[in-house]
Amino acid sequence: MADPVFKSKITPYVFTSWILAAFGGLMFGYDIGISGGVTGMDDFLIKFFPRIYERKLHAAENNYCKYDDQLLQLFTSSLYLAALVSSFFASKACNVLGRKPTILMASTFFMAGAALSAAAQVGWMLILGRILFGVGVGFGNEAVPLFLTEIAPVHLRGAVNILFQLAVTVGIFIANLVNYGTSTMHPNGWRFSLGGAAVPAVVLFAGSLVITESPASLVERKREEEGKAALKKIRGVDEVDAEFEEILSACEIASKIKQPFKKLMKKQSLPPLVIAVSLQVFQQFTGINAIMFYAPVLFQTLGFKSDASLLSSVITGLVNVGSTFVAIFLVDKVGRRKLLLQACCQMLISQVAIGVILHLKLSETGSLDKGLAAVVVVMVCTFVMSFAWSWGPLGWLIPSETFPLETRTAGFAFAVSSNMLFTFVIAQMFLSMMCHMKAYIFFFFSAWIVVMGLFVIVLLPETKGIPIDSMVERVWKKHPVWKNCFDDDDSKEYEMA
Ligand code: BGC
Repeated sequence: MADPVFKSKITPYVFTSWILAAFGGLMFGYDIGISGGVTGMDDFLIKFFPRIYERKLHAAENNYCKYDDQLLQLFTSSLYLAALVSSFFASKACNVLGRKPTILMASTFFMAGAALSAAAQVGWMLILGRILFGVGVGFGNEAVPLFLTEIAPVHLRGAVNILFQLAVTVGIFIANLVNYGTSTMHPNGWRFSLGGAAVPAVVLFAGSLVITESPASLVERKREEEGKAALKKIRGVDEVDAEFEEILSACEIASKIKQPFKKLMKKQSLPPLVIAVSLQVFQQFTGINAIMFYAPVLFQTLGFKSDASLLSSVITGLVNVGSTFVAIFLVDKVGRRKLLLQACCQMLISQVAIGVILHLKLSETGSLDKGLAAVVVVMVCTFVMSFAWSWGPLGWLIPSETFPLETRTAGFAFAVSSNMLFTFVIAQMFLSMMCHMKAYIFFFFSAWIVVMGLFVIVLLPETKGIPIDSMVERVWKKHPVWKNCFDDDDSKEYEMA
């Protein structure tokens, strides 16, 4: 089948919608970046975790076991549990109310979380603040990538969706800078760090009032006229009939499915579901968040002083942002698979090199010599770089573009919740794993990288340039493995279910 050519122009309105929607990513990124720094601040520890502070003062210096404390890790990771649960509610909200109100709700939860955390006097306020942040992340991460994918013209879909990840990386970077500034503001610097999350949330709130709803979501909710008007608005042209027809027929199939989660458990839903969940699980098992959350702690472990370690995490933050642009430019040209496979090689080399250096040269109490420490920083950078143009953005892009409309929000909720679950697992376990496994932790991540490379080779089809509502016919039914999920009888069932 020839590629349908849908007309589109990039008007200022369209561009603004993309940017505003991507502020959802900024909220998420800010939170990823802020926690590690805050939990390293003495004022914060003295107020909420005095026992840990005492231990920190008196602890015998051990490179691999600095702040191994489950409670402190629970502070970082509780947000992800809340996000995990709320992404399923967000999926419902996306279906029933639409993408736009779901984004608005996300920003509201996030603003409330920022206010409560910044004002926290006692532990429960802090934890409730984290939970509100988490619900905000769950709603935002469900609605924003889907929204971006749905409003993007097909030939730019990858690039537009990656605006979300770009915003995540900018959020992480800003958070590192904020922490750098507030760490010397005693005794309330941490309040500014946590409260700063309100800034992207306010922009997102304002943005969600301006953006237009996704046409597919309007049509799905039987508002066809509005859907067509929205499509004209986001395409910047009046001739949208061909694309609108495609949305109509996708919605017609979708309207026959009353229980998307049940439909998701059928054989024909396996390909996008297995891929969405696996990409997210693998994304976390690259070890990226071990670096993101604990970069300051990690660099201290490597023998850098407190300030130098913050600076080092600023460096990795910049590398992360810069390399995401590479993905934006390449994803719709070279495709998804090549980026993922190239990155597997680069990440593997980096992780193994870090593991070998630490294993051979970093004892429990000594420190690395300057030259080797610099090599480790460079390897951390090459690792972050390759993640940023591959598994980072594509972990969100591919699940948002491979489900048919009828299972899209439900399926994507599984992607979001898998991300949250495994971010939680890594955040909760990393410091303890490092304490027990020492340098071997980097070999542990390396082994996962090999598995994910094989996964891409065997099970991941290329989705570049395929219209989002033609995936079943043009991708799954043609794939050597996945076509088995669509034998003839089942396909009928698929059409009728
Ligand atoms: C991941 C996060 C990660 C970030 C780093 C995102 O795609 O989901 O867990 O911290 O990328 O840039």
